[in-house]
Amino acid sequence: MAYLPDKESKAKYVQETFNSIAKDYDLINKLITFGLDKSWRRLVVKRSELKEGGIGLDVCCGTGMLTMEQARAAGSAGRITGLDFSENMIDVAWQNIRDFEFKESIQFIQGDAMDLPFENNVFDCATVGWGLRNVPDIFKAVQEMVRVVKPGGKVISLDMAQPMTPVFKEIYWLCFNRVIPAMGKLFSGNKKAYDYFHDSAKAFVHQKELAGIFAKAGLIETRYLNLCGGVVAIVEGRKPLVG
Ligand SMILES: C[S@@+](CC[C@H](N)C(=O)[O-])C[C@H]1O[C@@H](n2cnc3c(N)ncnc32)[C@H](O)[C@@H]1O
Repeated sequence: MAYLPDKESKAKYVQETFNSIAKDYDLINKLITFGLDKSWRRLVVKRSELKEGGIGLDVCCGTGMLTMEQARAAGSAGRITGLDFSENMIDVAWQNIRDFEFKESIQFIQGDAMDLPFENNVFDCATVGWGLRNVPDIFKAVQEMVRVVKPGGKVISLDMAQPMTPVFKEIYWLCFNRVIPAMGKLFSGNKKAYDYFHDSAKAFVHQKELAGIFAKAGLIETRYLNLCGGVVAIVEGRKPLVG
């Protein structure tokens, strides 16, 4: 059983953990998701309704993969910001966009998802990929995303979820319990970090409950969309035009 930090020590623990695995993150993410991560990120951006020339925010951007998908959708006239509190993940993100077509429209900044350094109502959309289960207070982080998105804009999370189908559910958890820690140990030599990813995914709120948190934070049209039988889910909502 790995260490699941309490609310008070979580931010520091998570920051250190991601700093320690930054250079291996992209490879392991690809292996763990069987290469499906790219199509899931694309779907998130499609659902974000980000348009050519749009202004997007990617919270907990890590190595910038979802940020880059936003930039692709917004094109060269777009302005996309990736925010993360791990300096090593951000370093990798800058390296990842070195030869990227739309690198001029991207900026990465170091900051806290719980206290976004932006004015109200500035972004056309805000996405967060595999980020919410890592923050000490999910509601506060969602509230922050809602605050900085323009009225009518969308807030979207992509994260691990809870499959519900009997038998598939049991088989999935059996594999998940073995695969994630084993891969982490094999490829990064950092078993503790991947034990944390495993345990934090298991402890994460159900996608239906997360949609409820989105609604409580003031979003409308909240819903969740299961991917791969609910192994992963997109949870989304729209900031109302008034109120
Ligand atoms: C699993 S990675 C996801 C990276 C990326 N979104 C992706 O699609 O692959 C989670 C990221 O969330 C960041 N993070 C966790 N808590 C944070 C917080 N409170 N503020 C900012 N970033 C945070 C971590 O540093 C890490 O880079």
